[in-house]
Amino acid sequence: MCGIVGYVGPRDCSDVLVSALTKLEYRGYDSAGIAVFENGKIEVAKTKGRLSDLVDKMKKEGKPQGHAGIGHTRWATHGEPSDINSHPHSGRRVTIVHNGIIENYKDIKKFLIENDRTEFLSDTDTEVVAQLLDFYYDGNPIRCIRKVLHEIRGSFALGIVFADRPETVYAVRCESPLIVGQGKGEAFIASDVPAIIKYTKDYYLLEYGEIAVLKNGSVSFCDLHGRMVEKELKTADFDEDSAEKGGYEHFMIKEIHEQPTAVKTTITPRIENGMPDLSECGITPEILRSFNNIFIVACGTAMHAGMVGKYVIEKLARVSVTVDIASEFRYRDPLIGENDLVIIISQSGETADSKAVLNLVKQTKAKSLAIVNVKGSSIAREADMVIYTHAGPEIAVASTKAYMVQLSVMYLLAFEMAYAKGKITEFECRNLTEQLVKTPEYIEKAIELEYNCQYISTKLITADSLLYIGRGLDYALSMEGSLKLKEISYIHSESYAAGELKHGTISLITEGMPVIAVATQNSLLEKTVSNIKEVKARGAMTIVICDEFAEIDDDAVDFLIRIPKISEVLMPMIATVPMQLLAYYTSVNKGNDVDKPRNLAKSVTVE
Ligand code: AGP
Repeated sequence: MCGIVGYVGPRDCSDVLVSALTKLEYRGYDSAGIAVFENGKIEVAKTKGRLSDLVDKMKKEGKPQGHAGIGHTRWATHGEPSDINSHPHSGRRVTIVHNGIIENYKDIKKFLIENDRTEFLSDTDTEVVAQLLDFYYDGNPIRCIRKVLHEIRGSFALGIVFADRPETVYAVRCESPLIVGQGKGEAFIASDVPAIIKYTKDYYLLEYGEIAVLKNGSVSFCDLHGRMVEKELKTADFDEDSAEKGGYEHFMIKEIHEQPTAVKTTITPRIENGMPDLSECGITPEILRSFNNIFIVACGTAMHAGMVGKYVIEKLARVSVTVDIASEFRYRDPLIGENDLVIIISQSGETADSKAVLNLVKQTKAKSLAIVNVKGSSIAREADMVIYTHAGPEIAVASTKAYMVQLSVMYLLAFEMAYAKGKITEFECRNLTEQLVKTPEYIEKAIELEYNCQYISTKLITADSLLYIGRGLDYALSMEGSLKLKEISYIHSESYAAGELKHGTISLITEGMPVIAVATQNSLLEKTVSNIKEVKARGAMTIVICDEFAEIDDDAVDFLIRIPKISEVLMPMIATVPMQLLAYYTSVNKGNDVDKPRNLAKSVTVE
């Protein structure tokens, strides 16, 4: 939620800030702004709307000219999107940009008002922090920031400039992510590495409570107590191209096409002599044998990957798995035993509810395993064990390749656990692993169905509502299909266990209502086909996704999407592709902003 950036160096600061913010717009896009030192004075430009609106505004009114400054792209939490609520926000001598939320801002505002600070222009929690910084500022920026850090509560990252400290940017982080980039004679701050990758691959991860000072093109750090800190310089393992559209119209379709490579990169280092081997992640057969129960906890798409994981782990390893939505799990006082494993799945590794679950698990004796895409993110660093997915940066708000690699890790884990527990033989484990290794090839073939999906999507655009149905793994998968469609096409949809329809939901079926049926599980095919016929008989327009050999009666189907056949248990990795493509093209056909759907943001760092 929200992206922040900062720059100190020889380049045109406004241009650098705008360019970096472009790469962070996925984090929020309802307003944007920058503050730059121009001739020693802080000049602010900001507006409601997209970054392009800010650029247009600066074209008309002139952009701040200078070499040090901060910038912001917003996903509103406190106060509607408006020019006034846009960041940066200022006190008399301090200007800030902020990602996250300040929980006790009302108390602080009251305190400031009681102390004759009444100049609040906006409805934001951010402005309250700017005023508090100003209130304590005695000419020593670090002392002032430390003082404020002790008084504000919440999850936040701040970029700060002080009017009497020209050409210097300060940054601090508590919970919300922030990295500090180091180029040749220039330095950056950003909420995420892709923002600065055009300028440098070298960066520092700012830790909780650390303060960074960017001055004269270099960076220094101190901790909450004001002590200097030496930090390890990291190097990003991707380049600028990964964060660009590379000829595709949208990031989402680019990322769909990247899936075969992403799966290969994720699974290859975890397979040794044809067998799954997660030892590089600190996961051994002994550890895998030791768990009584597994909880998989996540949000949105990541939770859906967990649903597939549940079916596969329970089926193969015979361990009980409960899947929970993180925002529910954290408040439901779950019964976590000391020999249990809690798996937290998160693309960003920064999702507030998932992070809170990890904190909760740390208060128990259970072990935590993070499955995370963003290297060095909070969840990855704080869990007992971590399996990184190697999808590279995922920019589109609608997750595709991150889901795919999460599935691939679920399989590796299930196979290794099943073998470690003696529930499958070495032969079976090798066979399943071999099939998993082949999935990139099958995913590639499924992507070739693009034009078919594009055509079928034209039949969906006028729908007010539709259903996804399936049984077993197909049901788990259809949850993700449904989420994908609704988040970017704005068409209401529900996923339903096909066998459950007749217990109520079938009453929704009216003439022409689209029903997308996923029928890739041969063992359940006949039953699913019966359910498809039931909705068809009531007027539904049926779109059936099944394997290339499945026998489906013509009279059950209006549109058929046949996907390559692989081992039944692995079919979700193939079947998800047409669902992504249907969602993508429905959104495109409706003229929606595919990569930045309304009201959403990529990294949900607020509760
Ligand atoms: C996916 O398309 C969504 N935008 C969303 O559900 C996302 O998966 C969820 O917010 C979890 O994010 P995370 O994986 O970064 O934790």
